[in-house]
Amino acid sequence: MAMKFAYWLLVIAGAAAGVYVDEPLLYDTFPPDFIWAAATSAHQIEGGWDADGKGLNIWDVYTTNSSVVLDGSTGQTACNSYYFYQKDVNALQSLGVSHYRFSISWARVLPNGIGEVNQPGVDYYKRLIAALKAANIEPMVTLYHWDLPQALEDMGGWLNPSIADWFEEYARLCYTEFGNDVKIWITINEPWVVAYQGYGSGINAPGKYGPGTYTYQSGHNLILAHARAYRLYESEFKPTQQGKAGITLNINWYDPKDNQTSSQEAAERAMQFLGGWFANPIFGDGGYPAVMRQKVDEKSAAQGYNPSRLPVFTAEEKLLVQGSSDFFGLNYYTGSLTIEKIQDISIVDYGADQDIEASYDPAWYGSGSGWLKITPFGMRNTLKWIRDRFNNPDIIVTENGFSDNAGNLDDLMRVYYYKHNINNVLKAIKTDGVKVIGYAAWSLMDNYEWGSGYTQKFGIFSVDFATADLNRTVKASGRYYAQLIRDNGFTVDQPCNNYPIY
Ligand code: NOJ
Repeated sequence: MAMKFAYWLLVIAGAAAGVYVDEPLLYDTFPPDFIWAAATSAHQIEGGWDADGKGLNIWDVYTTNSSVVLDGSTGQTACNSYYFYQKDVNALQSLGVSHYRFSISWARVLPNGIGEVNQPGVDYYKRLIAALKAANIEPMVTLYHWDLPQALEDMGGWLNPSIADWFEEYARLCYTEFGNDVKIWITINEPWVVAYQGYGSGINAPGKYGPGTYTYQSGHNLILAHARAYRLYESEFKPTQQGKAGITLNINWYDPKDNQTSSQEAAERAMQFLGGWFANPIFGDGGYPAVMRQKVDEKSAAQGYNPSRLPVFTAEEKLLVQGSSDFFGLNYYTGSLTIEKIQDISIVDYGADQDIEASYDPAWYGSGSGWLKITPFGMRNTLKWIRDRFNNPDIIVTENGFSDNAGNLDDLMRVYYYKHNINNVLKAIKTDGVKVIGYAAWSLMDNYEWGSGYTQKFGIFSVDFATADLNRTVKASGRYYAQLIRDNGFTVDQPCNNYPIY
């Protein structure tokens, strides 16, 4: 009782002071059947870029220009999981996870994106799934983690509305081949990144530049393609295979920088442009968020765009899209501070459309990635934000993790990151009634971090990139995570501090 009182006193004092001190840990356990996972994606780990009939994907082609990647590297070998997947399964088994989140390389199973199937590619995923099952680990499978077959990009990629047909064909193949063994499907990982960084700012493959136009067009097609893959599962596969399908969105937490109303509105607007853009059509009222509609429509009109740069869903599309997810997949990493900043009306850019300015509190711990600060309070706030705006859906935290540049095994900052972020997930469940049903650490191992190459390491296992056998070695964070999983949470008796470093 006295403990509880002291706890709340601290929380209230912290909130009143406006500082971001860590609240005391909540010592409690997760629900009994909680999903504990580690995550990767195909292009970041598989290598085997041209093995056994695989087609080229947009990252294979984009990175032939070495200047687009910080260290000039490619994913041609990466962690070589195409050959070394058993090492991954062994690592997962030692963690004690219930699930492994990985993705299927579209061009490995359909070299041209549509049409002829590459049987050796299909067989690879069958071997991986069989090895997981043998280790008592369930697959949680992402269909699209950014590696579009180049053949489809050559036809316009995510800017071509036909992509909904192409994606449905690919999804059908995956459900047919793997669906008896896969009970959790994630259609698309972080459509925001595909739309804004792939087709808007162009800092990711395929490197197209259309920050205020292509961004919204590709975003629209991503939503429709997701919905088609979901409805296919729902009508033709779910009745017999009995699994779930959903989408994963990346949402960082935006806190108002001060207590002005305009800053509070700016923070909510930033959340809507980032998360609401995809969540509102799927989990909300079936259209884009009102504030996004208003901002982009107004600016489009002033800039001479008719119709608006932000597309509109037809009544039929709304029906397709609304409710097309059995869970809300959340990738949460970091937070920032927000104020209103009215931008020059002539700028045609998704960023400028928001009329905000975001910054970081210099007191926050940083990481190996400029964009990633340690803000565990944002995890809980983001979960509550989803609960309140989208009718308290089931949520799977499909990614959460921390980068460094050193790759040291005694990665104590990563331990700190996981401890506080996971504890905030627990508080969201126990104190706030948020329905989080699973959590995946990003990432199982150091891997190819897109435009940052191998310079930013997110693994809870390190990979020995200096030798051809690419051995995986557990880091302190991996041991810490394993203990959390064993305890199914935070126990006072074993406060997760007694883990061996290495
Ligand atoms: C989200 C992406 O899904 C993943 O591919 C990436 O490596 C992590 N964020 C870290 O940036």
